[in-house]
Amino acid sequence: MKVKGKMAIEKGVFGTLSKNRAVEFFILKNKTGAEAKLISFGATLASLKMPDKNGKFTDIVLGYDDLAGYIGGKCYFGCIVGRYANRIANAKFQLDGKEYKLVANDGKHHLHGGIKSFSRAPWQGGTFESDDGCGVIFKYLSADGEEGYPGNLEVTVTYTLTDDNELKIGYQAATDKKTILNLTNHSYFNLAGHDNGDILSHRITINADQITAVDNSYIPTGIIKSVENTEFDLTQSKKIAENIGKFQLGYDFNYILNKPTPQELSLAVRVVEPQSGRVMEIFTTEPAIQFYTGNFLDGVKGKVSAVYKKHGAFCLEAQHYPDSPNHPNFPSVLLQPGETYRQLTVYKFSVL
Ligand code: GLA
Repeated sequence: MKVKGKMAIEKGVFGTLSKNRAVEFFILKNKTGAEAKLISFGATLASLKMPDKNGKFTDIVLGYDDLAGYIGGKCYFGCIVGRYANRIANAKFQLDGKEYKLVANDGKHHLHGGIKSFSRAPWQGGTFESDDGCGVIFKYLSADGEEGYPGNLEVTVTYTLTDDNELKIGYQAATDKKTILNLTNHSYFNLAGHDNGDILSHRITINADQITAVDNSYIPTGIIKSVENTEFDLTQSKKIAENIGKFQLGYDFNYILNKPTPQELSLAVRVVEPQSGRVMEIFTTEPAIQFYTGNFLDGVKGKVSAVYKKHGAFCLEAQHYPDSPNHPNFPSVLLQPGETYRQLTVYKFSVL
């Protein structure tokens, strides 16, 4: 790899919340010239500049220009989602015989941790440099009862930009009461550029033989379904366009990753954008990944006067299965006092 420059971190004020609370921005640069911009509101990845096959750097994630965009936005651009990413049926679950009621913000269901949730939380950010690269550590203390969830939960999310053009997101959490947790990052990618048309000609491979079958409100039925000989099958590289028309809105499904050893960091997804030559590989310790093709983007006004339309980007949200607290046959999402929740997800960028 050509070494052009030096690693660098820049920071400043991105905007101001009520009571004069500053929202900070952090720009991480690596030696090759790649750049990640993070903001403390929602611990959000606001931009990510990666080179194409000719060495041209382009911002490949969707976002807004200013804090008002993130505050008013409904798409979860780039943010950390929690306490429970994805859906919880009927906005309730039980722990030790006690029922916990959550905020219903997706019809009668609970989506992405509720209305305020981690996506809109004022995280505290601090920068660091390490042998691995440079980064930002975000911390947030979610109070007992927030959005209906039990336990004071201390969460740490660490973004690292390495000199190998990887963006690593490490998650850690601890609670003082038994609770449930399912964290993810909700970045929308378009490897041709955040404002460069739709993602239908991207090619995708997901290392998953099964999905969690869902009903028409995207709530798991509890059935684990094989993708073999179905339009869900992405085990071999496929153009997203090939089968997307077979779904009502597009892809919005939770793929169960093939993982011989649970929690091992392994290759989950490879996406290729043939024209720019950009390649993104995702490695994760999580058991599943939600593949969502921006089905609800409906002309959202984004960065530098971009207008984001349906299928203008895709999300690949590493996580546990949706609605796990209500499905004893799904891997557990329980977190007990004294335990540490850990996740590592790595987005590695290269060119063809
Ligand atoms: C997730 C969900 C989608 C949608 C988006 C946000 O990916 O699975 O159904 O709610 O978040 O718009």
